[in-house]
Order: sequence, then C-alpha cells, then structure tokens
Amino acid sequence: MLNKRIQDELNKQINEELASAYIYLSMAAYFESKNLKGMANWMRVQTKEERDHAMKFFEFIHERGGRVQLADISAPKTDWKSPLAAFEDAHKHEIHITGRINGLLELARKEKDSAAEIFLHWFVTEQVEEEANATEIVEKLKMIGDSSGGLLYLDKELGKRGKKD
Ligand code: FEO
Repeated sequence: MLNKRIQDELNKQINEELASAYIYLSMAAYFESKNLKGMANWMRVQTKEERDHAMKFFEFIHERGGRVQLADISAPKTDWKSPLAAFEDAHKHEIHITGRINGLLELARKEKDSAAEIFLHWFVTEQVEEEANATEIVEKLKMIGDSSGGLLYLDKELGKRGKKD
C-alpha cells in the first residue's frame, strides 16, 4: 500500500509529465508555424514519450493499491523568439523534471518504500538521456547561428526521430 505523501507526490508527477507533453506539443505547433517540420516531428515524439512517462506513474499507483487523481494542466507558452530559445526552454524544463525525480527518490528513501525507489530508478536514467538530448540540440543550434543551411540540415536530421527505429 502506498503511503499518502508518496501517493500525492506521484500524482503530482503525473501532472508534471502531462504538462511536459503539453509544453512539447506547443513547441511542435510553433515549429509547424515556422515550417520546420523535422523539429515539429522531434517535439511530437517527445510529447508521446511524456505521455508514456505519465502512464508509468499512473500504472504504478494502481499496482500499489493507490488512487490516481488528475489535476489541471496550465496553458503552455505558445511562442519563442527562435528555435534555439525553444530548445533552451526544453532543456531547462528537463532540468526541472530531473529535480522532481530526485525529490521523489529522496522521499521514497525517507519513507523506506523500496518498491517506489526501484520504480524511480528508471526515471533517473531516463532523465540523463532527456537532458543530454536537449543539450545536444541546443549546442548544435548555437553552432549553426544564423546559417539557414545549417538550420535546414538539423531540421532534416530531427525529422528522422522515431522513424528509423
Ligand atoms: Fe518525462 Fe522529459 O521527462
């Protein structure tokens, strides 16, 4: 059985993951509006991953005999001054999520909930990848600077995400 504090925080994390999906979907819409279809694709794939993350928490709460309670999701930002600004926001957001996961892990340890602790390990590893993916794109966009050729090349590369595996 889940203790109440852990259950509340896991429910909050469902909201955080769904809010992440919403943020990335808004970024996908922004990239669509700029005709950067590859970046829009990357963000769509990211949105799906975030929904999958939310569902992992959803299933875990049920498996432990807990109660899922959903809450409001705030409206995301809808516009950015550049592709770089959007990916920088994505990176900052992932740092925020990593902080949440670390906090959850600390709580699970404090409450001596080994099952929650082991469940959260997957997310610790996942966050390393999430941050690394965003960082790599931010760094490439910085290198590209004002080169439209470079931007179009990266757009094409990001269009392959989710299609080659
Ligand atoms: Fe679910 Fe991007 O962290």
